[in-house]
Amino acid sequence: MRKREVAIIGVGQTKVGEHWDKSIRQLAAEAILSAIKDAKIERVDILYVGNALSGELALQEHLGAAIADFAGLRTVEAYKVEAAGASGAAALRLGYLAVAGGLADFVLVCGVEKVTDAPTERVNSALSLGIDGEYERELGLSFIALNALIMRRYMHEYGYELKDFAGFSVNSHKNAAHNPYAMFRNPITEKAFVEARMVVEPINLLDSSPVADGAAAVVLCPVDMAKDFQAKPVRIASSAAATDTLALHDRKDPLFLEAAYLSARRAYEVAGIKPEDVDLFELYDSFAIMAALSLEAAGFAERGQGVKLAMEGQISLDGRIPVSTMGGLKARGNPLGATGVYQVVEAVLQLRHEAGQNQVKDAHWALVQSIGGVGGTVVTHVLEGPD
Ligand code: COA
Repeated sequence: MRKREVAIIGVGQTKVGEHWDKSIRQLAAEAILSAIKDAKIERVDILYVGNALSGELALQEHLGAAIADFAGLRTVEAYKVEAAGASGAAALRLGYLAVAGGLADFVLVCGVEKVTDAPTERVNSALSLGIDGEYERELGLSFIALNALIMRRYMHEYGYELKDFAGFSVNSHKNAAHNPYAMFRNPITEKAFVEARMVVEPINLLDSSPVADGAAAVVLCPVDMAKDFQAKPVRIASSAAATDTLALHDRKDPLFLEAAYLSARRAYEVAGIKPEDVDLFELYDSFAIMAALSLEAAGFAERGQGVKLAMEGQISLDGRIPVSTMGGLKARGNPLGATGVYQVVEAVLQLRHEAGQNQVKDAHWALVQSIGGVGGTVVTHVLEGPD
C-alpha cells in the first residue's frame, strides 16, 4: 500500500488553566468545534482523544463516545489514547497512521485533561500512575521526585548549579506573556527562579510545569485534498514514536532519553532534514531537566550541554533554536493528555505565520516532541509549513 502525505488543515484550543466551571466534555467540544471551523470540513471519519487521567480525576472513561456525542459527532468511530504525558501526541500519531494508510480521509485529534477540581496531592498521586508501579511508585516516588533525581545526577555529573537552569523558565514565561491561551503570562527573573519555593529538591515551583485543565484539537486530511479546505495547510513530514524502560532504575544511563533519541532520529530521517534545518522546537519542558535532555537527544547539543543553550540565550525566539515559543509546558501550562496537541497547535500557528508577537521569523520546519513518564514513551513529529 502506498503511503499518503498527511496535512493539518484546522486547529483549535481552549485557554489553559483552572476551568472549574467546565466539564471534560465541554472543554473538548470547545476545542473540537473551533478546529472544525478552522478546517471548514463537513465530515469526520474518526476521532482520537488523547487523555491520561479522565478515569481517575474526571470520573469519566469511555471518553471517545462521551466526547463524540457531546461535540456533535455522534456515530463517528472514537477512542481514547493513553500514554501519560505523551497521550495527545500518541493520538496524533494514530490519526496520522489512519490518514497515511488510506483508511480515513478526515480525522479529528483532540487532547483534553480536566484535573484541577482535585487537590494537588491527589493530582500528583494520579499523575504517578504513569510511572513504574511495582517498584518506583510503591517506594513513594512521584513524577516530580524522579525528575529531581535525574536533575541532581545531571548537576553532579556536569557541574551545574540551580541558577544555570533558570533560562528555560525565564524563556517560557516571557513567551507566554503574548499567548492569550497561556496559564501564566507573568514574566519571571533568574533571581525569582533561584529563590522559588522548593518542591522536591532541586526542583522548585518555578521549575515545575503547573497542573492544569485544557483541550486542543487538530483536523487531518490527505495533502492532496488539503487546499480545498485550508489556504495554509501544514504537512506532517514525519511521525515517529519509541519506548524505553518504564522504570528509571532499569536504565543503563538515566541521563540519556533513548526513546527521545530514537524517535527524533527516525523523524529526521523520514522528513529528510537535520537538526540545523529546524526553525523551532516545541519540546516537553515539564521540568527544565527534561528540556535539557530533549535538546541533547534531538541533536541540538552534546551530552551535558543542553543547559548551556538556555544559559547562552540560544533558545529565545530569535536564537539558534527557539523552544517553547508560546510558553511551553512551564508557562502555557501542562494539561497532561492535552499537552501533545497544544504543542502541535502552537507549531502550526508558527508555520502558518499566525503566532503574533511570538512569530519565529521565516519559520518553515518545526520539531515537536512529547514525553510520557520519564521517557517511557516519546513521540516526535516534524511539521513543514505551507511556503
Ligand atoms: N509555576 C508558577 N507558579 C505556580 C505554579 C507553577 N508551576 N504552580 C502554582 N503556582 C502558583 C499559583 O498560581 C499560586 O499563586 P497565588 O498564590 O498567587 O495564587 C501559588 O503558586 C500556589 O499555587 P498552588 O496551586 O497552591 O500550588 P501547589 O503547591 O498546589 O502546586 C506544584 C504546585 C508545583 C506542586 C504543582 O504545580 C505540581 O505538582 N506540578 C508538577 C506536576 C507534574 O508532575 N506534572 C507531570 C509532568 S509530566
